Parts: sequence; C-alpha cells; structure tokens
Amino acid sequence: MASKDSRCVLVTGGAGYIGSHCAVEILQAGHDVIIIDNCCNAVTGTGGIPESIHRVCQITGKQVKYHQVDIVDIEALRDVFSKYSIDVVIHLAALKAVGESVKRPLDYYKVNFIGTCNIVQVMKEHNMKNLIFSSSATVYGHSNAVPFVETLPTGIDITSPYGKSKYFTETMLKDVCSQDKSWNMILLRYFNPVGAHPSGLLGEYPSGTPKNLMANAVQAALGNIPHLKVFGNDYDTPDGTGVRDYPHVVDLAQGIAAALAKIEDNNNSCGLRIYNLGEGRGYSVLEMIAALEKASAKKVPYVIEKRRPGDIGTFYSDPTLAWKELGWKATRSLEERCKDLWHFHTMNPHGYLKN
Ligand code: NAD
Ligand code: WQD
Repeated sequence: MASKDSRCVLVTGGAGYIGSHCAVEILQAGHDVIIIDNCCNAVTGTGGIPESIHRVCQITGKQVKYHQVDIVDIEALRDVFSKYSIDVVIHLAALKAVGESVKRPLDYYKVNFIGTCNIVQVMKEHNMKNLIFSSSATVYGHSNAVPFVETLPTGIDITSPYGKSKYFTETMLKDVCSQDKSWNMILLRYFNPVGAHPSGLLGEYPSGTPKNLMANAVQAALGNIPHLKVFGNDYDTPDGTGVRDYPHVVDLAQGIAAALAKIEDNNNSCGLRIYNLGEGRGYSVLEMIAALEKASAKKVPYVIEKRRPGDIGTFYSDPTLAWKELGWKATRSLEERCKDLWHFHTMNPHGYLKN
C-alpha cells in the first residue's frame, strides 16, 4: 500500500460518465488515481488527454496519471501494472449501449467479458486482489419482482448481449473468488444514473443519437429534437409510463467510494460482496419530464409512442444492503438531479467539444 491512508487506485474507463465522477470522489478522499481509457466514448482534449480528465483535475486541484489503453490488450495492461504499485482496481471500462450490443455482440463480449478477464489475470500476476466491478441492474432480467434485491436470481430473461456480458462477467468473478478466497471483490449493480457534477464541468454528452431517457429529454428541452418519444403509456404503473430508479451520478460515485472504503476497512478481507446502487424508489417517465421542465423552466415536448421492444414496466432497487454494510444511500433530490443535468448542458452546449 502507498501509505497508511492513501491508496493507489486504478480507475478503468475513468474518462467516462460515471468514471470521471468516481475519480473526483476518490481523489477527494485522498487517494492517488491512475486512469486508463481507450477513449472510444470520450473526447480528447489538450495534450491527447480526455477533456473529462482535465476537468476532474480542475475540480479537485489534483493530478491524475492517464494512459490510453484498451483493456482487450493484455500486454498494454501489463505495462501499466509494471509502472505503478496499484492497490485497488475500480473497473468501469465497458461498452454500454444496449441496442448497439444486439448489432455488435462480439465487440460487447470482447470488451466487457474478455477485457475483465484480462484485468483479473494481470491483477493475479501482481498478487493484487482488490477489485470493484461495475455491474448493472440489467443482470436481474425481466422476470423478477420489484424491488430488485441482491438475493434474487440473476441471468434469467436477459434480452441483450450487453446485459448478458455483465451477467457472464459477474459469474466469472464469483468463480474466481470461490477458487481463491484471498480475492476481495465488490460487485456494484448500478441502476439508471442521471444528473451531472454540480460544478457544471462534468456530465454526459452521448456521442451519436442519445438512447437514454434524460439525454433525450434534455435535447427536447433545448429544441435540438422536435420532441421526446415516450415509449408506452399502457404499462401497469400509476400513469402508464415506465418507472425506473434514477440515482444522481454523484451519489453513485460516492457509493463507489464507499465500496473502496469497505475494501480498506476490512483490511483486505471482505471477500465477495454484491450491492445495488440505487435510490430505492422509482419515477415514471412523465414524472421525470415534469421534474426537468421545472428545473429548466423549459417545455419538454413529447409524443406517446408504442412500447420500446425489450422494455419492462417497472424496476427499482432495494438499496438496504448498501446502507447496512457500506453506510451509503442516495441522498440527492430529484430536483437536484435535474438542476445539475440542466446546468451541465447549458454550460456545455457541445459537450466536451470546443465550439
Ligand atoms: P461511459 O461510456 O461514459 O464510460 C465508459 C468508459 O470506458 C468510456 O470512457 C470508454 O471510452 C471506456 N472504454 C470502453 N471500452 C474500452 C476499452 N476496450 N478499453 C478501455 N476503455 C474503454 O459509460 P458509463 O455510463 O460511465 O458506464 C461506466 C460503467 O458502468 C460501465 O461498465 C457500464 O456498463 C456500467 N453501468 C452504467 C450504467 C449507466 O446507465 N450509465 C448503468 C449500469 C451500469
Ligand atoms: C428509461 C425509461 C424507457 C428513452 C438502460 C439499460 C440499463 C442501464 C441503464 C447500463 C424506460 C423510457 C427512454 C426515450 C422513453 N445501463 N424512455 N423515451 O432502458 O431503463 O436502462 O440504461 O447498464 O442496463 O438497459 O434506461 O433511460 O433507456 O429508459 O420513454 O427516448 O424511459 O421506455 O421506461 P433503461 P432508459
């Protein structure tokens, strides 16, 4: 370990939406941060460094080490591990577009599954066995009753290669832990993060056509698209539209920081743990639209369309275990989530691209 209190933390995918917010929290907790990212979903800024990473440094007043590395390239990973004495890996790098994964399944399995195998392999070679893995609510599939609690079966009725890649990876990690009890792995199942850093410097500006609800809602509020398509108003929910659990991305990042503290607190003996990171309540599409309209003082024009194939009506988390064992819960209000989201988009009309 670097010193008694400060750890050397490798954040994969740290130029991304959740990873950049996570890097802020880890730096603010006093740790050293190394980021690897291949920039396939990040915008490069000055000096070939992702713009999001420049902003992480601006927010925290601290430096991070950055390497452009593809996690599929095991030799490049070995090279990074040979340069530093890494204590913990927070693994976020992945491809994450559900629809795209149906069209490019091999890429999703390669990056999400094989990429994680590579990381675990290199960690093992260095006898460094502390891993926090970014999983997803999608592993609960389509058949479980809500709220989703960690003890429910996973892997049943997962429709997309993306979701299956997360389930297969969880399974692989569990097998590694069963075979070698000296591993400490925390699998975090993220629900639907929204919002942005309150500074307005970090957020998500999706490349290509946005797919997620709030990314589209913002574009509709800005007048960049004529209207938001609301996929179905005939679900068995209070207003008929889909209900999801939307934690603020800063809450989520603080959940990752709490998982890091757990690995430290247990003096490297926490074994395998799995936690939901969600708020524990759902909001409907229409409630989310109304909240964004209030925060932005803009109309969000919308049109009701047919259900989106593969969607389910309602899911949200039971986050009790994360509260009990990590002392973490999502605290930021829906108003704050929408205000921060809107702030990021008004401050960065072209995302991380210069005008
Ligand atoms: P993101 O796309 O913003 O960040 C992922 C980062 O990984 C990007 O910067 C990308 O360039 C990088 N990356 C992708 N492939 C890589 C590779 N082969 N080698 C190195 N870097 C690579 O996504 P995000 O929303 O920040 O998601 C982070 C993690 O959280 C992912 O594992 C995702 O599956 C998981 N997750 C996200 C959500 C969500 O709604 N955002 C929900 C549940 C789980
Ligand atoms: C939310 C609600 C839609 C867009 C996905 C992944 C999941 C996780 C988070 C990574 C649903 C409705 C959406 C739109 C709409 N990611 N909607 N109009 O599908 O819950 O989850 O992202 O792990 O794995 O599957 O998120 O934001 O796409 O949809 O009406 O333009 O908004 O039908 O009810 P989803 P979402």
